[in-house]
Amino acid sequence: MTNLPRIVAAETLDGLAEDDPCAMRSRRDLQRIHRLMGTRSILARALQRLVVSRPAAAPLRLLELGAGDGSLMLGVARTLGPRWPAVEITLLDRQDLVTRSTLDGYARLGWTASTQVIDVFDWAANPPAAVREPSARWDVIVASLFLHHFEGPALAMLLAAIESRARRFLACEPRRAGLALAGSHLVGAMGANAVTRNDAVLSVHAGFCGQELSALWPGDRLFWASSEYSAGLFSHCFSARRSGLGGAGALP
Ligand SMILES: C[S@@+](CC[C@H](N)C(=O)[O-])C[C@H]1O[C@@H](n2cnc3c(N)ncnc32)[C@H](O)[C@@H]1O
Repeated sequence: MTNLPRIVAAETLDGLAEDDPCAMRSRRDLQRIHRLMGTRSILARALQRLVVSRPAAAPLRLLELGAGDGSLMLGVARTLGPRWPAVEITLLDRQDLVTRSTLDGYARLGWTASTQVIDVFDWAANPPAAVREPSARWDVIVASLFLHHFEGPALAMLLAAIESRARRFLACEPRRAGLALAGSHLVGAMGANAVTRNDAVLSVHAGFCGQELSALWPGDRLFWASSEYSAGLFSHCFSARRSGLGGAGALP
């Protein structure tokens, strides 16, 4: 367990307009940072494990919260390849960042992608009536570099909304640890701009470690199996799957 205290501070990118050149450049930096972090393969492996026992007949309904420009999950879709079942993915973000070309990229892989431009707390506060039906739950909700923006009651509200609307949940966040902090101070060496250099460091300070997300997860252990672990050099993952009565325990 690290002894870095968790500190959540507003990131510069979140205050910039979608078409601000510094924001656009920082989003491109983020794609390169994901390559260094190995995020695609971390997510692909975790998704494989999460859906392993699911019958492949119906399309998998997947929601990404804070999806940004949608390029990360497109890379994950490419990594998963054609053996993966058909997927209907919804890319939710409060900014409208997903391009036609990204949507076409999903289509070429046989995935059906759509966007939802909404603040996640409006999503959390206004469940469609049908969401109370277990059949209306998302097969998987994914969050990458997203939960670390939040703390306290806001994070609790978000996790409660996810818990009630998902069959499976996967989060991949910055690991709050010395090595990740050192790495975040070095993103300038790969040519990252000032926004990215600032936000990388803030993200690690706001990241997670140990079993922090498990402690916050509101799912009843009788109904959810979960696992929280370090992944790669810089990431921290939490995954949870509804297991039904008697099936509780850690995920493999
Ligand atoms: C660090 S980016 C991560 C993007 C993508 N998930 C990835 O890993 O490449 C965080 C994203 O969360 C979005 N975001 C931040 N706060 C949000 C909120 N309250 N509701 C919806 N989206 C939000 C931002 O617009 C941004 O696109």
